[in-house]
Amino acid sequence: MTETFKPTHAALESLEYEDGVLLWGGRKVTEISEKLGQTPFYAYDRQRMTNRVAELRAALPNELRLHYAMKANPMPEVVSHMVSLVDGLDVASAGELAVAVETGIDPREISFAGPGKREFELRAALEAGITFNMESKNEMRRLAAVGESLGVRPNVAIRVNPQFELKSSGMKMGGRPSPFGVDSERVPAMLEELKTLDLDFRGFHVYSGSQNLRAEAIRESMDKTVQLVIDLAGTTDLAVSFINLGGGLGIPYFPKERPLDLSAIAEPAERAVRRLHDALDNPEVIMELGRYLVGEAGIYVCRVNDIKESRGIRYAVTDGGLHHHLAASGNFGQVIRKNYPVVAIERREPCEAVTIVGPLCTPLDLLGDKVTIDQLKEGSLVGILQSGAYGRSASPDQFLSHPPCKEILL
Ligand SMILES: Cc1ncc(COP(=O)(O)O)c(C=O)c1O
Repeated sequence: MTETFKPTHAALESLEYEDGVLLWGGRKVTEISEKLGQTPFYAYDRQRMTNRVAELRAALPNELRLHYAMKANPMPEVVSHMVSLVDGLDVASAGELAVAVETGIDPREISFAGPGKREFELRAALEAGITFNMESKNEMRRLAAVGESLGVRPNVAIRVNPQFELKSSGMKMGGRPSPFGVDSERVPAMLEELKTLDLDFRGFHVYSGSQNLRAEAIRESMDKTVQLVIDLAGTTDLAVSFINLGGGLGIPYFPKERPLDLSAIAEPAERAVRRLHDALDNPEVIMELGRYLVGEAGIYVCRVNDIKESRGIRYAVTDGGLHHHLAASGNFGQVIRKNYPVVAIERREPCEAVTIVGPLCTPLDLLGDKVTIDQLKEGSLVGILQSGAYGRSASPDQFLSHPPCKEILL
C-alpha cells in the first residue's frame, strides 16, 4: 500500500536531514546508533533545551524564576545541563535529590515535593539544606521532629491543593480530593500550628495541572493561583517570600495538537509577578516545568527486526517497546490511545502504512498504529519524537527481561 507523506504531527514539520538521514543534535542518527553500538536508545539534544529556555526567558518577566522538575528526565547529564540554564530544581525523591546535589547547584535552589516523604528522605533533604514543599500536617510535624534531632531548622513551604484545576490539562491536580498538598481551606490552621514549631516558613507551592496546550487555561489558573496565595498570606503574620506558581505548559504529542502560544502567557505571567510583588514583600516567584523544557529535545530510536503481514495489516516488529517507552505505547495516562510522532530515520520512498510494535508478548506493546512512514525494511531505524520527558524513567524496563536501553546527551 503506497501513501503520500503528509506530516500528521507538529513535531514532524521541522525535521532536518543530511544525505537522507535524520539529524539529531546536529548528528546523523545512524552515526549515533553506531557510536552507541546498540539500539534502542534515547538521544537528547542539549541545544534544543538551551533554545527552549532562551525562548521562555525572552517571553516571561525577568523576575519569574524557572525551575526544572527533574521527574521529567532525571538523566544526570541532562540535569547538569538544565542546571546551567535554569534557576533551580524540583525533586520528588531522595534519589532525585542525590542527582541534583551532585550537579553542584546551591541547595537553597532545590525544593522537594511529593506525598509521604519517608524519614530517610527528610533526613537527606535536611542535611542537604533544601526547601520542603510540605504535603500534610503530619509531614510538617515529622519534619520538625527530624529537624530537632539533627539540630537543623528546616526551610518549608506548604503545598496547597487549590479549589480549582488547570482546565484542559493532560493531568489535573487541583479542584478535588487529592493526596497532593493541603486543601486550601485547611492551610490557615496549619499556618497557626507551624508558628509553634521549629520551622522556617518560606511560602506556598500550588500545582494545579500538567500538559496544557491552551494559553487561556494557563492564564486563568495563574490568576487564580495568585489570588489564592494573596488570600492565604492575608491569614497569617508569617512573611511569605517564596511562591511556586506551578507550570503545566504542554508540548504537542498527538495529531492536530499545536504548540502552546507562548506570547499569550507573557501578559498573565507579568501580571502575576506584579500582583505578588505589590501584595507581598519582594517574594521569589517560581514557575516549575518539566516536559516543556526537555520533552521536545528527545528522540527514542529502535530497530526493525521483522516485517510481517497479518490479515491486511503490515507490521514492523522492533527491538524497542513499552518497556522503554511506556508513554508512546499509550499506557502512561492516556484515556484514548493516540500515536506519538513516528519517523523513519532514513528517507526511503515510497511511504507506506505500517503498524510499529515492540517485542513484548502483549498487544499493549504498540508504538505506532497504522502510521504513514518512509518504507521500512529489516534493519531500518525508527524514531519516536517528543520523547525527552517521561520516557526511560517512566517505563517498566524490567518487564520481560529485555536488555536496557541507552541514553545519550548530544
Ligand atoms: C508537582 C509537580 N511539579 C512539576 C511537574 C512536571 O510536570 P510537567 O513535566 O508536565 O511540566 C509535575 C508533574 O506531575 C508535578 O506533579
